[in-house]
Amino acid sequence: MNKSEFEEYLAGCIGDDALVSEAMNYSLLAGGKRFRPLLLLDLLEDFGVDQKKGLNASCAIEMIHTYSLIHDDLPAMDNDDYRRGRLTSHKKFDEATAILAGDALLTKAFEITAEADIEPEKIVRLEKLLADKAGYRGMINGQMLDMKYTNSNDVTIEQLKETDYYKTGELITLPLLCGCVIAGREECLDMFDKIGHDIGIAFQIQDDVLDYTSNPEEMGKSTSDDVNNKNTYYTLLGEEEAVREYERLYDEALGLLNGYSECEFRNITRIITEMKNRRK
Ligand code: IPE
Ligand code: IPE
Ligand code: MG
Ligand code: MG
Ligand code: MG
Repeated sequence: MNKSEFEEYLAGCIGDDALVSEAMNYSLLAGGKRFRPLLLLDLLEDFGVDQKKGLNASCAIEMIHTYSLIHDDLPAMDNDDYRRGRLTSHKKFDEATAILAGDALLTKAFEITAEADIEPEKIVRLEKLLADKAGYRGMINGQMLDMKYTNSNDVTIEQLKETDYYKTGELITLPLLCGCVIAGREECLDMFDKIGHDIGIAFQIQDDVLDYTSNPEEMGKSTSDDVNNKNTYYTLLGEEEAVREYERLYDEALGLLNGYSECEFRNITRIITEMKNRRK
């Protein structure tokens, strides 16, 4: 399944029957890179499993990711005005609507996963994964660490790595683990947990570099790390070393995939290679 086929399905998920629907769809359908849901769907294809079995979970992951962006942009967090090429939710609507649209996308993710056309035991496993990776010991923990280290003068690389492991690594690991569960390939869970966090940390370091070296037009979002006094790999190590570190992490993930002899993982290899080569 390609990106536009996925987006067609995503566009039918929420409808327009509630007061908050418009704000939910405004952010969800604004057009992101969609590589999290595609990691799930393409991993299923690599395993030789029907991608339809992963459609609901992949939409759920994109909803959770979108909610995390809406809340990340709020004045109390990064205070940003642009996201996905348009005004952020609180700028387009108001703060209360943005908070509620985020809450609604998060809860909708659990609803749509419950309705997936797969074995009930697998649905229970998926719901637990979504809660773990999005929740207070997952992505939320990373956002808390991000806030804690903002404005700080003595943050270490280890502390940044821990922040990125949770803040970004958890929601990028999530589709890979969901793919293993849906495909019944439990023996691959540990490997994909490592791969997901490698590419998740790499993706965040790359995002931090681009925040300084790209611009809002190309990124489709505000680039505010400087004014927000964020500590990142870029500010601690400089561009060259930050780029070297994210390339090393992507290569480590590709090496793990390559070393697994039971399956070729052609799609996942392609996606990780595309991520590594991204320059905006
Ligand atoms: C943005 O994620 C948040 C980070 C983890 C840096 P993406 O760069 O995947 O955002 P979209 O989905 O393409 O808008
Ligand atoms: C946010 O990281 C990651 C989330 C959990 C949403 P950033 O704050 O760097 O993401 P952008 O740059 O706003 O997309
Ligand atoms: Mg942030
Ligand atoms: Mg932000
Ligand atoms: Mg950023």
